[in-house]
Amino acid sequence: MSDDRPFQWEFRPEPVPPETLTVEGGTPLRGTVPVSGAKNAALKLLAAATLTGERCRFTNVPEIDDVRVMADTLRDLGVVVDHPASNVYEVASGDVEWLFVPLEAAAKMRASFILLGPLLARFGRVIISNPGGDRIGRRPVNLHVDAMRALSAEIEYRNGYYFARSPGRLRGSEVRFPFVSVMGTENAMLAATLAEGHTVIRPAAREPEVDDLIAFLQRMGAEVERTYPDTIEVEGRKRLRGADHHVIPDRIEAGTFVVAAAVTGGDVTLRGAPCDHLEAFLDVLRRAGVGVECRGDTIEVHGDALRDGGYRSVNVTTAPYPGFATDLQPPTCVLLTQATGTSRVHEAIFEDRLEFLGELRRMGADVTLEDPHHAAIVGPRPLHGAEVEVGDLRAGASMILAALAADGRTRIHGSHHINRGYENIERKFLDLGARIERVIDPSPGEPNAHGTAEGNAVTTS
Ligand code: UD1
Repeated sequence: MSDDRPFQWEFRPEPVPPETLTVEGGTPLRGTVPVSGAKNAALKLLAAATLTGERCRFTNVPEIDDVRVMADTLRDLGVVVDHPASNVYEVASGDVEWLFVPLEAAAKMRASFILLGPLLARFGRVIISNPGGDRIGRRPVNLHVDAMRALSAEIEYRNGYYFARSPGRLRGSEVRFPFVSVMGTENAMLAATLAEGHTVIRPAAREPEVDDLIAFLQRMGAEVERTYPDTIEVEGRKRLRGADHHVIPDRIEAGTFVVAAAVTGGDVTLRGAPCDHLEAFLDVLRRAGVGVECRGDTIEVHGDALRDGGYRSVNVTTAPYPGFATDLQPPTCVLLTQATGTSRVHEAIFEDRLEFLGELRRMGADVTLEDPHHAAIVGPRPLHGAEVEVGDLRAGASMILAALAADGRTRIHGSHHINRGYENIERKFLDLGARIERVIDPSPGEPNAHGTAEGNAVTTS
């Protein structure tokens, strides 16, 4: 019998109940919406808590599926994860029994790979599924693996799993990335906090969520600092202590609601919004003619220009922070369907992020996908309701925005993807006057034209 037999299980993804969002468009959104905690900060903070055996407490954690997946993945390792109140999580990693992160976790959420650095650094070994394998997506993790090797880890790849070990403590080193990677930076930094000696990470991602992680690690007693905008230095410690942390607000959720207000010609105030983290995005929206005012931690959005002559076309190129966030590219494309002239969109980071434009076209948008990284959007074009299918989180939220702006009823199939990253999204939209309903089908019936089952529906909103 071979040693790696347990890892040759056949992978069977858990069935997700078919879920649809139905939106009646055409209502300008009005009111105030609170911004939740940042998904991309919270996931890394929960993982970072495994660097110590002491209890860590997090507040302002968003109530989203990705956080629940991370919590369950940690529990499967033997970590105690409590959820004593809404938006509060406590993590105690005193008794980690099982240094194995299975494909089931990686298939649900690529961010599970962030456990590589902390588990390897603290326990000297971990077996972790490759989330970038052909089975579940195209995104590679080679930079993470190279970073661990630079810190002296021994890593072998077999049967879809990375077998990582470090006979003694990891050793601090220079970690040089060929280009910026957010989670690559974070994984290297997490591992280096418990390594022996000094680590320099360059170029280090500059995203606000990385700085939030640095702030938490410092509270844990880690010696980690951003010494230049693109450089993070770490002096490894033998052990870290438990700490508390309040998660920063979600700039991507905030940006999504900014576009929702703009594209419906509404007036919306975002409360607890991270204005400083949205500069490149807000600059594009202002150039398009959207009224946006930042006051402390509120953002006021005025969509009057939609009624008084329309928005102007703008060109958008995504880039690592402080550039225009790739996660805000899909919502911005929806806005650009209502801008006069031709807008060119260059998605410079991911090759699959413009694919959702095909669904936008079904709603009447004039979009041309020139290649996987370039699109042209001609506007303004009135959008109309349609049956659309979404395949990922940001595209999903963007189709809600398109549906809110459209004339008539849109049914968004595959809307469970949106729950991965947006807390109470339909509640928040309902409170702004939107007509939106979530329909969960507990008893799948015949597949419809989209291959999505229809049956006895129950609604949750
Ligand atoms: C994070 C965010 C995601 C965001 C992205 C870019 C989380 C959980 N997710 O993802 O929402 O869209 O940053 O801002 O924080 N790459 C490699 N090899 C690697 C790693 C990355 O080639 O080992 C490539 C990617 O395919 C991509 C580019 O590097 O083209 C940047 O990706 P990266 O910054 O690593 O994104 P994530 O950290 O995965």
